[in-house]
Formats: sequence, C-alpha cells, structure tokens
Amino acid sequence: MLIGGLNLAMLLPYWISQLCGGLIGAALAKAVSPEERFWNASGAAFVTVREQGQVRGAVVAELILTALLALAVCMGAINEKTRGPLAPFSIGFAVTADILAGGAVSGACMNPARAFGPAVMASHWDFHWVYWLGPLLGSLLVGVLIRFIIGDGKTRLIFKGR
Ligand SMILES: *[C@@H]1O[C@H](CO)[C@@H](O)[C@H](O)[C@H]1NC(C)=O
Repeated sequence: MLIGGLNLAMLLPYWISQLCGGLIGAALAKAVSPEERFWNASGAAFVTVREQGQVRGAVVAELILTALLALAVCMGAINEKTRGPLAPFSIGFAVTADILAGGAVSGACMNPARAFGPAVMASHWDFHWVYWLGPLLGSLLVGVLIRFIIGDGKTRLIFKGR
C-alpha cells in the first residue's frame, strides 16, 4: 500500500483476508493431524521465544527477515523499474534464506497472520506481539525506503486512492 501496490480501500479487507487465511490453514492442520502430533508441534504456533531475554533479539530478527522478504516482493514484483519475471524465484529464495537464518532466533514468521492463526488454534499467546511488532516495523521500513529513496516515481500517488 505504501508503495502503490495496493489500493488504500483494500488495506483492511487484505488484512482480514490474511488473518482468515492464517486461521483456515491452522484449522486444517489441526483437522488433519493426529492430536498428539498437533500438540507436539504446538499447533505450529511460534514457541521459539520462551523468555524475556530472547525478546529483543527476536523483534530485531523479525524486523530484518521481514525487511528482506518485503524488499524482494516490492522491488521484484511491484516497483516498475526493477520488477521482473524472476520475482517468484527471488521471493521464494528470500523466504528460504530467512527461515535458514532466523528460524532458531525468532521462528522466522515474517507475517502476523502466520503467527495469528496457529496462536488461535493452539491457544498459545506467549510473546505473540513479537510477531506483529517485528514484521510491521520491517515492512514499514521497506515501505518508507522504497517510497522515498529507492522506488520509482509512480508510487507517489498512493494517498489519492491508487
Ligand atoms: C510427542 O512427543 C512425545 C514426547 O517428546 C514423544 O514421546 C511422542 O513420540 C511424540 N508423538 C508424536 C506423534 O510425534
């Protein structure tokens, strides 16, 4: 939305759809998994952060991981001068690199909806806010970076409803 890839009017529906998608995915995982397996895996909820001492590192990790992914998406698939046919590859590669780099630090969430659905299904809310704050800061950083510094001019029209 910040760089003109999404109409302002679609922002709320987009967020709600994302959260519903996360819920549906987590509910399906619960439906198809034997109960013991589901709970052994905490219903795919993030349990990486267990104590206060890990919080700062996890928020910073989510910020950085989300920033890398958001950069790949925005510059590879949306920004007119830099987007190209290899975007799906770049995006998939960014996700892979993010998980390998940050899986052990924060769980490599990169999207609050990914944390939200499983949190609901497993009733696991410990440090849940980390997965909203980190990704929001990371994507906001990328939005501002692209809109004001590295993006192309088209993106300046957004607040007129583009
Ligand atoms: C769940 O975890 C327990 C304890 O670690 C283990 O003994 C059991 O085999 C696991 N069950 C499944 C289905 O993975």
